[in-house]
This record gives sequence, structure tokens and C-alpha cells, in this order.
Amino acid sequence: MDSIPGPRVAVVVVAAGSGTRLGAELPKAFVPLHGLTLLERSLHAVRGMQHAVDPIVVAPSDRLDEAEALARRAIGGPVTVVAGGATRQSSVAEGLAVVDARADIVLVHDAARALAPTELFDAVVDAVVERGYGVIPGLPVSDTVKRVGDDGQVHETVDRSALSAVQTPQGFPREQLLTAYALAESDETDDAGLVAAAGFRVDVVPGDAHAFKVTTPWDLRRAEELLAGSTTPRIGSGSDTHAFDEGAELWLAGLYWPGEPGLAGHSDGDAVAHAIVDALLSAAGLGDIGGVFGTGDPRFSGAHGDVFLAEARRLVEEAGFRIGNVAVQVVGNRPKFAPRRQEAQERLSAILGAPVSVGATTTDGLGFTGRGEGITAQATALLLG
Ligand code: CTP
Ligand code: MG
Repeated sequence: MDSIPGPRVAVVVVAAGSGTRLGAELPKAFVPLHGLTLLERSLHAVRGMQHAVDPIVVAPSDRLDEAEALARRAIGGPVTVVAGGATRQSSVAEGLAVVDARADIVLVHDAARALAPTELFDAVVDAVVERGYGVIPGLPVSDTVKRVGDDGQVHETVDRSALSAVQTPQGFPREQLLTAYALAESDETDDAGLVAAAGFRVDVVPGDAHAFKVTTPWDLRRAEELLAGSTTPRIGSGSDTHAFDEGAELWLAGLYWPGEPGLAGHSDGDAVAHAIVDALLSAAGLGDIGGVFGTGDPRFSGAHGDVFLAEARRLVEEAGFRIGNVAVQVVGNRPKFAPRRQEAQERLSAILGAPVSVGATTTDGLGFTGRGEGITAQATALLLG
């Protein structure tokens, strides 16, 4: 049976606002939230969708390059980036102007709703496909709502059973949304307002509490706390062993140890650095040092530990983690580690941008380390998502 192609979906993410109520130094979409900008977090949800989509980002006109770089990385592919207007509605209009004419459905999403889950995007697309008209996520209103005069006088209680607090992404058949924007006379705070004003039906579907809009500093803190509470740390371990080579210089823990016998190896034999690299890669699920760096790669022949450590850090950060801390233990008779422990910790911590603690022990004369034939290092790394 031939597979039926799904609908063509464009997602317009509006990120051109200044974020006056948030009061940060940057426009709101560029404000960091648990290590990633609001814009990147919104785009990660788009990237995770079941439906293949054409992503469009509407950004402040003086930050188009920055928005494009962030968006490409977050989406992992091409993104159309256009400059926004003075109001949300005019920004959406700029985004709609570049939607592919072959798109069947358009979703419009506020970058400020940075924690809206991927599932909500897919649910909105599915509902638009099924119904053939606009669909917006909304949540029941739980507070009692009053209509109040300018002077603060309460006039009446509004029947909340008929109310819904609506969110984004809002989805529409492209034709209906374009018609609504072409006819727009008023400035509405959401797209459904225009589509309904143009005479098209719009339904509410169940929203998600995580799709709240980051508007004030309090909202940003709430988002930060939600993310902090939801990340699962990842642990990894690694070890490395090298034999002593009297003819080589000793490099260990990223430091040069004059007068000490060196370690044999393809690179400088820095067992501490290599054990840490393996611990980092294993925690991130990225394999191991041999697989990632390849002993044949000329870039790493004779390289010192800092080169491997910096590259491992880059790889785990690119995979979406940051390093929590690293602990490493050196097992061997020499060099005497204690006098330079502090220096080693500072050096390694600086390279990894996270605390590294280094300990050392001997094996009471037992085994190859006890006989002074070489050393082993064992490392444990903790990554935070
Ligand atoms: N938006 C936009 N262009 C505008 C105004 C708003 O693209 N001229 C976008 C914002 O970037 C945000 C979404 O519309 O993702 C919802 O707007 P809002 O939360 O009001 O954001 P800001 O306008 O940036 O914030 P404020 O109103 O506090 O200045
Ligand atoms: Mg605004």
C-alpha cells in the first residue's frame, strides 16, 4: 500500500517582542532559561514533533543573525528567520508572509511559552487535520473571575465554567489564517481572535500547564524551578592505564612533571585526562575515547590531555548536557601527587568549567602499580541535562 503523505505543516514561532514586563537586559526570547534561551527551548519542542514541519522564526530586526544561529542549532536544520513588527500581530503577519504556499496547516507559537511540550504541538496538528478548522489549546479557569470597573468596584462574577485560558501553539488551515490576517481590522492578542472575527469556527482542545507564558520575572523563576526539578543527572565512569616509559616526559592531570618518568602512549599518556574523557563520554552516551578520537587521528598524536578534555566538554555540551562535577583517583607509586593536587584540580576544573577533584592512592606494593610498572586512573563524571 502506498503511504499517504501527511499534511504539510509550517510552524511560526514569534520571538520579536522586547519583554518589557520581564525587564531583562535582552529581548525575552534570548533570555537564558536553565542554560538555553527561551527561543531554543521552544524550538526543541518543534524539533521533537512527529509531523515534519517548516520552521519559521520571527525575531527582532537587530538580532536576525543571532536568532538564525540559535535556531539552526536548536532545530538541527534549515530555518527561515524574518524580522518582526511593532506588535505581536504584525510579527505573526511577517511570519505568515514567508509560509510556503504548499503548507496545509500553520501553527503559531509564542517563543515565550518555552516549556510547551512537543505533544501539544502534535495534538494541535492532529486536531486541525481531523476537524478542518482552527484549534487552540486552553485550560479551564480555576480562579473566581470578577468584572471590575476602572475605580476598582466589583460589578459581577463571570461564569467561569464558560471560560478558557488559551495558549499557543494555535493551529489553523493555512487558507483560513491568511484570510483572517488579510481581513484583520482590530489588534487581537491571539490568532484565534482574528480567525473567529473572520467568521471561521475555532475550537479549544485541552492545553498543558507547562505551556504557560513567561511574562514576568516570577514566571521565569517558575520555569527555572520546573526544569531544575525535572532533570535526571547522568553518571559515567572511565579508567585508563599506561606503563612508565623512562625516556618520556611525564604529563599527568594536565600538568607537566619535570624529572619524573613519563608514560607510554599514542598521545602524552595522561591517564588522568583520558579517564576523565571516558567518564564524560560514557555519561553522555557518546561512546569512548578510542571511538570518538580514533588513535589514527593526526590531530591527537602527541596531544596533551587538555586537547582531549576540551573536545570532550564540547561534545557533551553539544549533546545538551553540562558537567556537574568530576572525581578522579590516581593509583600508582609515583609521582607524589599531594604537593600538586590543588594545582591539578584547578587546571582540570578550568578546562571543564566544573569542579574536578583528584585523589591518589597506592596499592601496598601489590600488582603492576605496586611494582611501579605504570599507573591507573579511575574517573567518575556527573552530567546534568
Ligand atoms: N512578540 C513578537 N513581536 C512583538 C511582540 C511580541 O514577536 N512585537 C512575541 C513575543 O516575542 C512573545 C509573544 O509574541 O514570544 C507573546 O508576547 P509577549 O509575551 O507579550 O512578549 P513581549 O511583547 O516580548 O513582552 P512584553 O509585552 O512584556 O513587552
Ligand atoms: Mg507583549
